[in-house]
Amino acid sequence: MLVGLVGWRGMVGSVLLKRMTEENDFSKFEARFFSSSNAGGEGPQHGSFEGRPKLYDAYDLCALKECDILLTCQGSSYTNCVYHKLVSIGWRGYWIDAAKTLRLHETSVIALDPINYSFIKKSIDSGIKVFCGGNCTVSCMLMAVGALFTHNLVDWIFSSTYQAASGGGANHIKELLAQMGSLYGSSEKLMKDPASKILDIDRVVLEKQQQFGGEEIKYFGVPLAGSLIPWIDKDEGSGISLEEWKGFAETNKILGLYEKQSKQIPVDSTCVRVGSLRSHCQSLVIKLRKDLPLNEIEKIIESGNDWVRVVPNNKAESETQLSPVSVSGTLSIPIGRIKKLKLGREYVSAFTAGDQLLWGAAEPLRRMLNILIDENCRG
Ligand code: HSE
Repeated sequence: MLVGLVGWRGMVGSVLLKRMTEENDFSKFEARFFSSSNAGGEGPQHGSFEGRPKLYDAYDLCALKECDILLTCQGSSYTNCVYHKLVSIGWRGYWIDAAKTLRLHETSVIALDPINYSFIKKSIDSGIKVFCGGNCTVSCMLMAVGALFTHNLVDWIFSSTYQAASGGGANHIKELLAQMGSLYGSSEKLMKDPASKILDIDRVVLEKQQQFGGEEIKYFGVPLAGSLIPWIDKDEGSGISLEEWKGFAETNKILGLYEKQSKQIPVDSTCVRVGSLRSHCQSLVIKLRKDLPLNEIEKIIESGNDWVRVVPNNKAESETQLSPVSVSGTLSIPIGRIKKLKLGREYVSAFTAGDQLLWGAAEPLRRMLNILIDENCRG
């Protein structure tokens, strides 16, 4: 099989390539690398391929059409520009996409196979060709509590998110770090003077934050270091941010309920950008359909997949195992702080963390590619 890879140089694409190399995925198919800026140049070393492959033009429809599967991390405008053209010239391959453009189309599936493998499988059998990676917050949330949904136990769920800078993109991480450096710089003299007063340090840092402008807030628009941003993605005037809207729509789409209005599960959230680098956290409130003992709830959660792990609800383990720092760079999905609420026996809260570049972006795409390769080999 010939698999075309587009957008492999960006942040999600690079994480994807690293994972594909770690899992020896390149031994299963022939890879063709595309570039939107360096056609004819050299692609990345990968698998056991000797040397560097030639890069094809990411807008060359003939070269794209030869691929059985195309996997793109290039972004929405690329998908908008290329996908329909390719289909209109008769391409009938599989399109795997990190971007949101096609996620909610009737003829696409959002792939998160530890949660919706049978839905994916049924969709392949029925001829679906478009498989998208989901929104990172949604995928990480479902990796944590997916089993409660698949056991039909969730009446509704509310998520307060703590989203990392990486969700905005590579430039956002750099901007956050630059802001952090600049805040420290503004207070360095005082910090090094043991006699300095904390309120003087606080004042100079706040003044610096309030003066941030131009390049310092080019991507976030406002200070993030030492602060937070209580709105993520577009404002479409409804009081619900686009990120929050995706929480409802994409969760239901992954569960196969998006098109079945009467069965949809209410998913609400307040999405907030915080100063962590690449892992998202979420504080969840779940109204269960019945009163279950906590240990049973934990057992169900842990039965969901191989990556979710219940962290005992105590200070030491919560502090060390539920933070962005503890999960970044890993596929682990810890969930802890699980407790019943005073609201009633069916109300449970929990706190979870997940690397938004791995389960939140690259890993579901990589696994979807493998599912298609395996299906094809079976024939
Ligand atoms: N929209 C997410 C964020 C990115 O801004 O954090 C991952 O889907």
